[in-house]
Amino acid sequence: MTGQEIKNLLFLLGEEPLEALTARAYAQKCELLGKRVALRGLIEFSNFCRKNCFYCGIRRDNANVKRYRMTEDEIVAAASWSADRGYGSVVLQSGEVPSEENARFVARVVSRIHEKYGDALGITLSLGEQSEETFRLWRNAGAHRYLLRIESSNPELYARIHPCDHSWQARRDCLRMLKRLGYIVGTGVMVGLPGQTLEDLANDIVFFADEDVDMIGMGPFIEDPGTPMFNPALDDATRTAARRTKFDLTLRMIAAVRLTLKDVNIAAATALQAIDPDGREKGVLAGANVIMPNVTPRAYCAAYRLYPNKPCVHEHAEACRGCLESRLKAIGEEIAWGGRGDPLHFGKGKA
Ligand code: 5AD
Ligand code: SF4
Ligand code: FES
Repeated sequence: MTGQEIKNLLFLLGEEPLEALTARAYAQKCELLGKRVALRGLIEFSNFCRKNCFYCGIRRDNANVKRYRMTEDEIVAAASWSADRGYGSVVLQSGEVPSEENARFVARVVSRIHEKYGDALGITLSLGEQSEETFRLWRNAGAHRYLLRIESSNPELYARIHPCDHSWQARRDCLRMLKRLGYIVGTGVMVGLPGQTLEDLANDIVFFADEDVDMIGMGPFIEDPGTPMFNPALDDATRTAARRTKFDLTLRMIAAVRLTLKDVNIAAATALQAIDPDGREKGVLAGANVIMPNVTPRAYCAAYRLYPNKPCVHEHAEACRGCLESRLKAIGEEIAWGGRGDPLHFGKGKA
């Protein structure tokens, strides 16, 4: 992007009135993708993680987390449930586990789902940084999309929110590897990190463009009490006000990405709904076109807690399905039932 384009981005991120900005971005979304939202059934199949990200509720050193891994059959059942109810794709998510045993476990699960539904059901993975061999194994088993947030495009900010054995470069290299292996690749950032500037956020969008990714997921950073990034000194009123600011800034980021990168898929992150009960709908009205309803069996769902206030943990996935449908209807949007919902951008970007 040129210097002028970056200046324009900064204007969108900081100065254009929020309502005008989101209205323009929503019009762009409707023109390109219609008044339709694609759903992905999110299966959080394990909360074991080797990493220790300073912001995350399931970081390795949080001893208060009850760790679980769903069985192969449970995961396949959750995927089938989603497919049978018209969710055109599923996302298998877990913490980062580097073992070969885990790689083979995931490959078996992906193969079983892929054999059952073929190309009718999209299979997306969100399992952290892995070796090229593992990424290839999973791709060959039938996974075709991968989500790996860069968290921040600024390596210095990244270093402040992660222990020193986490590497920004390694993460970026994973994104490139995934692309080379033929995955449709998604990335994203947290919005409202301590010390994050509007320049950082503008550069995040430049990063998305430079890496030519097809899908973007961005959510507000929410302090979790079980993590080093929780500030116990804040009073409730200050905390609530800060959350609102991050929420609005996330809507600005969604709108700015829609207006600049146009045909990418943008998810209205669940973290939006942790702050505002209508958070995801507001995300859609700011230009997002994907929602990832949680289909994890509720016995596990609450233990996959990245941040407080996780929505829907007590609602059965069936209730969420109906709830979501009527919520989207209320804003004049319909659900794109059945389609895999591949991003328009895929295959059109740079070589
Ligand atoms: N607040 C908001 N988002 C978080 N994530 C992890 N912890 C938090 C938090 N405290 C996000 C990260 C990660 C994704 C799965 O969840 O961006 O990539
Ligand atoms: Fe693990 Fe992801 Fe949480 Fe980091 S953000 S601790 S990699 S689950
Ligand atoms: Fe889960 Fe509304 S989407 S209760």
